[in-house]
This record gives sequence, structure tokens and C-alpha cells, in this order.
Amino acid sequence: MHSIQYLDIQENISLKSYNTFHLDSVAKYFVEITDTVELPLLLEHERFKEGKHLVIGGGSNILLISEVFDGLVIKNNITGKMIEKEDEDHVWLKIQAGEIWHEVVTYCVENGWGGIENLALIPGCVGAAPIQNIGAYGVELKDVFESAEFFNFEDHTNKTYHSNDVKFGYRDSIFKHKLKGKGIITSVTLKLDKQPAVNTAYGAIQEVLNLRGIDRPVIKDVYHAVIDIRSSKLPDPKEIGNAGSFFKNPELPNDIAEEIFFTHPNAPRYTVDEHTIKIPAGWMIEQCGWKGFMDGDIGVHDKQALVLVNKGKGRGEQLEQLAQKIQNSVMEKFGVKLTPEVNFV
Ligand code: FAD
Ligand code: EPU
Repeated sequence: MHSIQYLDIQENISLKSYNTFHLDSVAKYFVEITDTVELPLLLEHERFKEGKHLVIGGGSNILLISEVFDGLVIKNNITGKMIEKEDEDHVWLKIQAGEIWHEVVTYCVENGWGGIENLALIPGCVGAAPIQNIGAYGVELKDVFESAEFFNFEDHTNKTYHSNDVKFGYRDSIFKHKLKGKGIITSVTLKLDKQPAVNTAYGAIQEVLNLRGIDRPVIKDVYHAVIDIRSSKLPDPKEIGNAGSFFKNPELPNDIAEEIFFTHPNAPRYTVDEHTIKIPAGWMIEQCGWKGFMDGDIGVHDKQALVLVNKGKGRGEQLEQLAQKIQNSVMEKFGVKLTPEVNFV
């Protein structure tokens, strides 16, 4: 902790390097927060009080629609991590919200702490991980989540939210609803396994391990397999602007899903529970002919139709319009409403 006298609030800052779509929106005001002691100061600042505000981490799950964000963008750069407690089987790692998620995954794998190796290479910061309950390759954040500290902008309190309070769902949590825009997650504590069992249930992981002749995988093997699979189909935001899956995979009641399987018997599917089936949105979008589509710099990734891309000077508004057209054609062909995963700003 150190004492901070003032905040360096900048004006008219381009957000191009702060969002993975590389959209060139301008923030009217912009501030980087590096320590929680700055937060009370922030709340007292006239730039905070006078207008709207947006907290960002890595900007890998936002779509900046307008060319000017007429308010204050708060970039969370609070870093650091510590072991909160440990016993023979587990370690509770408290991580400040501005830490890079993938670097934390790598650190845990190097220490032999299991639980998040399947979530390797997900862009962004730790603070955003609980917001949509990040998930990939058979694991979700909720599986290792212990708690998150949340500084509430409205009542100026700092509250710890435990698993039961957070209402995790598929790409969902209380932070996307009741607490949306109400404050800032400052840290996340994960409960990791010191004697980890690997999770290779997700098809492609086992295939990669088989190809490499690894029959007794450890977490490092899973970590590398996930990195390889992801790199082969998802565009690297450093090279092509994107925000990962643009839409969520729809969870459909059995009878609606069966109608789709009747006309498309080979449709991929995942059983969610006895009443619900998930059909991959990427498959539906491909069936509608969008895969590889480009309109100027904006389009649909040619290896993964669920990923919208900006290959240069595209604008947020164009991405919003393309998303709308894709939603319309999926509705027309399958009668299914696609819901965006990306947060529209
Ligand atoms: P941002 O984009 O900065 O913010 C996202 C939202 O959270 C915004 O609404 C923002 O206001 C809010 N927010 C951010 N930080 C805080 C905070 N500290 N306190 C309060 N609110 C905050 N996601 C998956 O779940 N699984 C994947 O496999 C996956 N793969 C991806 C692959 C690629 C190539 C890309 C580009 C994205 C992928 N994503 C995936 C989406 C994204 O990486 C995650 O949602 C990630 O957690 C976003 O982190 P961020 O720091 O970039 O959040
Ligand atoms: N598919 C197609 N065409 C496509 C894309 C996918 O037919 O263009 C089919 C595939 O053949 C496969 C199925 O759809 O049968 C699923 O595809 P994939 O394994 O690529 O995963 P996804 O369902 O598209 C989800 C998550 C990803 C996560 C992966 C791996 C959502 C919205 N997306 O994608 O998360 O990394 O599974 O677990 O749930 C993200 O949230 O940003 C994200 C990338």
C-alpha cells in the first residue's frame, strides 16, 4: 500500500490498444488504477461523479459501438498475487484483478497446482474471469472459484462474494446482472489442487494427447494440448481483431432441438441436462453461409464462424450490424435467437 494524492485522469485517449477488436473509439476521460487505495479518491473525483464510467481489464470481451465513449474509462491495473492459505491438498491463491489471466494459469501449472490448466490462453485479466464465468475445454471458473472482492461504487463498501453468492451459470453470474456497472472486482481467490487429477473429457484434448503418445497426462500436458487446439482455430487478437465467441451457444429445450435434428441429423450437440440441449452457434452460423464472409475489414473468421473479426479499420457499428444480420439469418433458418456473449458498450 502507498498513499496517493491525486489521480492522473487523461483526456481523449484512443482505446484502440485497449480492446482486442482494435476499434478506434476515443474515451473522453481515462484513468489507470494500480492500487485499491486509489478507489475512494476515484469516487470523489468530479470526472467520476459527472458522467458514466466503464471498468475494463484486457478489453477482450467488449464491443465499443460508438466512436466516442462519453465518460470515464477505468483501466484496472491492480496487480499482485499471494497464497492466502494452504493445506496438504489445496492452495488458496488470491490474485489481484489486473493480473493477466493466462500468466496466472502458466504460474499455477509451473507450481503443479491444478484446476485452471484447461483455461489456458483465454485473453484478458483475472478481474473479468468471474463476470461471465469463463469456460473452455470442459472447465469453468466456478469449478475453482472461492471468492471475489468487489468494491461497490454506490455504497462505497468492499464486499467479499463467495461461490454461493455469485449465481454462476453458463457465461453468466451476478456481475452481469444485479452488480453490472455497480463497482469493480479488485481480486479473485481460487482454490487449486496440489494433487491434481487431469480433465481430458473434452474430445479434442484426448486426441492431441493420443497423437503425442501421452497416456498418463499431467496438468502441463493438458495445458499444452489446450494451447495447441486453441491456436489452431481461434485468431490471435494481436494479428486479427476479435473478441472470441461473439454469441453464446444456445441452450434449447429438447423438443426445439429435435426439430433441428430432424432436418439436420448430423448437427453437433451437447446434452446440458435431461430437458436441455446445446447446439453450437458456430455450426448454425456456418450453415447459414457466413463462415469466411468479409465486408471490407469486418467479417466472420474462416476457421470458426462464431468469431467475428476486424482485420483493420472496421468500426463497432459495422460489427453490430453484421451481428444483427447473422442473428436474423439464424432465426430464419433455425428459429433460434442467438444472444451475444460480448458486452456491448
Ligand atoms: P474486458 O473485455 O475488459 O471486460 C469484459 C466485461 O467485464 C466488461 O463489461 C467490463 O466492464 C467488465 N469488467 C472487466 N474487468 C472488471 C472488473 N475488474 N470489475 C468489474 N467489471 C469488470 N471467454 C471464455 O469464457 N472462454 C474462452 O475460451 C474465451 N476465448 C477467447 C478467445 C479469444 C481469442 C478472445 C479475444 C476472447 C476469448 N474469451 C473467452 C472472452 C474473454 O477473453 C473473457 O471474457 C475474459 O474474461 C475477458 O477479460 P477482459 O479482462 O479482457 O475483460
Ligand atoms: N462448429 C462448426 N463450424 C464452425 C465452428 C464450430 O461446425 O465454424 C462446430 C464444431 O465442429 C464443433 C462445435 O461447433 O462440433 C463446437 O465448436 P468449438 O469446439 O470450436 O467450440 P464452440 O462451441 O464454438 C465454445 C466456447 C469457447 C471455448 C470452446 C472450447 C462458447 C460461446 N464458446 O466454443 O469460448 O473456448 O467452446 O471449450 O461457449 C469464448 O467464450 O469466447 C470462447 C472462445
